[in-house]
Amino acid sequence: MSVVSVLAEAGLTGRGGAAFSTATKVEAAHAHRAALVVNACDGELGAAKDGWVVAHRLPELVAGANRLAAGAPVSYAAHRGSETAQRLHAAGLRVLELPARYVSSEESAIISYAQGGLARPMTKRQPLVRGGRDSEGRRIRPTAVLNAETVWRAAQILANGPDWFRSFGTAEQPGPRLVSVSTPVAYALVVETEAGAALTDLLDLAGGLPDGSPGVLVGGLGGTFVAAADVPGLRWSDASLGRVGARVGPGVAEALDPRECPLAYVQRCLTWAAGESAGQCGPCMFGLPALAADWHALVARGDRTAYGRIRSRVGLLRGRGACRFPDGVAGFAGSALDVFGDHLEQHRAGRCDVAELRYAPETDGRRTGVHVG
Ligand SMILES: Cc1cc2nc3c(=O)[nH]c(=O)nc-3n(C[C@H](O)[C@H](O)[C@H](O)COP(=O)(O)O)c2cc1C
Ligand code: SF4
Repeated sequence: MSVVSVLAEAGLTGRGGAAFSTATKVEAAHAHRAALVVNACDGELGAAKDGWVVAHRLPELVAGANRLAAGAPVSYAAHRGSETAQRLHAAGLRVLELPARYVSSEESAIISYAQGGLARPMTKRQPLVRGGRDSEGRRIRPTAVLNAETVWRAAQILANGPDWFRSFGTAEQPGPRLVSVSTPVAYALVVETEAGAALTDLLDLAGGLPDGSPGVLVGGLGGTFVAAADVPGLRWSDASLGRVGARVGPGVAEALDPRECPLAYVQRCLTWAAGESAGQCGPCMFGLPALAADWHALVARGDRTAYGRIRSRVGLLRGRGACRFPDGVAGFAGSALDVFGDHLEQHRAGRCDVAELRYAPETDGRRTGVHVG
């Protein structure tokens, strides 16, 4: 059986976030003699699993990459100066050291950088595996980008067979899988699990969901908040998480700290996201800072008009931009509005049960305030 048929029979899907069929991707890569880039950036908030693969499963990863590339060149992408980049260098591999920015690990940004351009997503959507032209009109070599865990799983499938792989997980999402789990007592602990595992059990491996936690962020900055009350009934699968609008995605889960106001947490993330836009598409370049500013107005100043503006910005950002970054952040902010609605009411009333919210006296209808604690 060919490599592509084995992967198809195993039902392997990408572990970088989009869960696209790996067999289909590899088949297209072979047809176009595409170069292979193994994405080990762990760019998502709280992600660490691909660094774990490089640290603990490097020989299998390299063997898998060579099999999938079928003679085409292979390189490994990691954030500049990271331990992962150092390990890859030490192993004598071809390493693409990307600037440690959120969008630089998006696949078209990696390909652009690999071919002498900037580490920014290409503004023209095109099938990269076939090659085409980058944002500046230069020809790009056909290239396939696969997540590091995907490549390692492919190596395992080629060694152990599709039946072994399918003995883990669910029929729709087969195979063992890694998750980076964070809680207030453990940051980005990498655990191995399978689709169908109880979300509570996963969190327990890293200290558990603390009493009073407002919930769990599943999928990082491109992900979705899950209310604490929903957590016990959920399993780690798209079928189960989908009931609350979440997905397994890039395999990241973070139990929120009960000592931090969840709206302040969202504020920190949005402010950071606003600074990470690659500045190429209007909705992303202007929309994300505006979203962060409105969120600040709502959370820190209790500005009642900001809520409507945030709702409309979330709608406007969806599906916009050349890459999925603004879309992901819009989903993140929208789910925060849905899940932390009660908490928002407190802020609108000038209170916060978690942190002390001090408003300065109202002056001409505007309030200024800060979170304390
Ligand atoms: C803003 C942004 C950042 C991304 N960062 C990563 C990353 O750090 N690692 C990764 O494997 N995929 C990342 N992706 C997804 C990649 O573009 C790509 O889909 C993935 O590497 C393909 O691998 P897979 O098919 O094996 O999942 C990111 C996507 C976006 C939109
Ligand atoms: S949407 Fe944002 S991050 Fe993506 S290409 Fe456009 S400006 Fe860059």
